[in-house]
Amino acid sequence: MSHSSGTTIQDPFKPWKHLFSSSIKLTFLTQNLMRALLAICIVAALYLFFFGSISNWRINCPECDKTLFHSTLHQLPSTNEEKTNISHILFGIGGSAETWNLRRRYCEVWWRPNITRGFVWLDEEPGKGSGEPWPETSPPYKVSADTARFKYTSQGSRSAVRIARIVKESFELGLENVRWFVMGDDDTVFFTENLVNVLNKYDYREMYYIGGNSESVEQDLFHTYSMGYGGGGFAVSYPLAAELVRILDGCIDRYAELYGSDLKIGSCINEIGVPVTKELGFHQMDIRGSPYGLLSAHPLAPLISLHHLDYLEPLFQGVDRVNSVKKLIKAYKFDPSRTLQHSFCYDLTRNWSVSVSWGYTVQLYPFFVTAKDLSTTLQTFLTWGSWSHEPFTFNTRVMSLKPCERPIIFNFDRVQRFGNGKTLTLYRKHNSEQRKQCDRENYKAAYKVMSFNVFADVLDPGIWNKVQRPSSVPI
Ligand SMILES: *[C@@H]1O[C@H](CO)[C@@H](O)[C@H](O)[C@H]1NC(C)=O
Ligand SMILES: *[C@@H]1O[C@H](CO)[C@@H](O)[C@H](O)[C@H]1NC(C)=O
Ligand SMILES: *[C@@H]1O[C@H](CO)[C@@H](O)[C@H](O)[C@H]1NC(C)=O
Repeated sequence: MSHSSGTTIQDPFKPWKHLFSSSIKLTFLTQNLMRALLAICIVAALYLFFFGSISNWRINCPECDKTLFHSTLHQLPSTNEEKTNISHILFGIGGSAETWNLRRRYCEVWWRPNITRGFVWLDEEPGKGSGEPWPETSPPYKVSADTARFKYTSQGSRSAVRIARIVKESFELGLENVRWFVMGDDDTVFFTENLVNVLNKYDYREMYYIGGNSESVEQDLFHTYSMGYGGGGFAVSYPLAAELVRILDGCIDRYAELYGSDLKIGSCINEIGVPVTKELGFHQMDIRGSPYGLLSAHPLAPLISLHHLDYLEPLFQGVDRVNSVKKLIKAYKFDPSRTLQHSFCYDLTRNWSVSVSWGYTVQLYPFFVTAKDLSTTLQTFLTWGSWSHEPFTFNTRVMSLKPCERPIIFNFDRVQRFGNGKTLTLYRKHNSEQRKQCDRENYKAAYKVMSFNVFADVLDPGIWNKVQRPSSVPI
């Protein structure tokens, strides 16, 4: 299900070297006590500021209330049916015996043995020769059926046929109480609480196909906009899976020239007449470089998945790839719904703009930045296939190289409960952000801020059910 363009990655960080190399030494370690005290005062003022603005945010935003709370399109039929939980999802992960040992580190950060249900589907028995037992922390595995009889005429890898059939082989296991089949790659990280909440918006007794597109327009044009990309993961409701299983094998031959497993699945579901319902929390991550800009301006939707983490710079500077994901998950566990949710505030006495991506980062601009700009993704990455500057399926803004235009960046450091139903997250300035200094007065003052504390209510997952649902419901 991967959409690698087949090119070897020569130097993924090259275009961004100038952004991330540190050329100016830290000066903050030697600050005197006075400055430290001043910094504390500023941070203390910002506590109050945040506390006020986050807790009052809903009250002061009547338009938000309208879209978030009063939309009643397509209510689920009210029955006594119990809500969908994690046990109703059967995961099907496309893997291979050879690469599992490398890829499992991403799967194992979200997989919960005996809670999450599903299988990694391999091309052959694992551990051949080595005799190593299958790791207990991995999902159980199954070996896919032979696919030699199917046609495959694309330039890509034949494994696309095998992986496309995972949904069928999963269905045919006949496991009980499965409402949704969720497909993902072996390097997909799922945020399962949010996935469950999003699936709860939809009636599993109807035919639904839910996923997201590629971020890179060139990928969407080359493959299609009308599928759920496999690396970001997609969900197929039980009744749709039942129909898909009926036609899938013939369909795979009809679409022999299509590259990926997800495109084959998308085309077959299209034959059934069910369009993909797009959810913005699925992240195929078809980008090159740093995902920072993308994750610091997440759309108003719960984070469902991340993918391609081995092809990207780590989520957090100075932390390796796997530990970066673990760090984000640390925040996530305290408040799944709020993770990466974006909010911003203005300090009208200092003329500062502050942008918060909860559990991930805080950006401080010592000048006014419009809400429109703050919510536009900083482009810290290139397109997936051709490593170009554009286009993406969302707007971007340039991450300036001029020190007097760049945000001062603080990275998530830790999280704790605070009082009743609240969290406190701490964000610290990352050292490398201090390499190029702006010597204007406004920046000088802002540089003294060493950390941010953000107080927030734990976000009720029910809020997502009230967000307006897509108006085109199949069947
Ligand atoms: C999920 O819901 C089912 C009812 O459909 C219930 O029996 C089960 O205990 C629930 N599981 C979890 C993990 O909440
Ligand atoms: C999962 O369940 C099996 C069988 O009930 C048990 O042997 C195993 O120890 C459990 N694993 C974990 C990690 O709880
Ligand atoms: C904030 O901006 C206003 C209007 O641009 C300006 O008059 C004021 O002096 C600024 N305040 C500070 C502290 O820079």
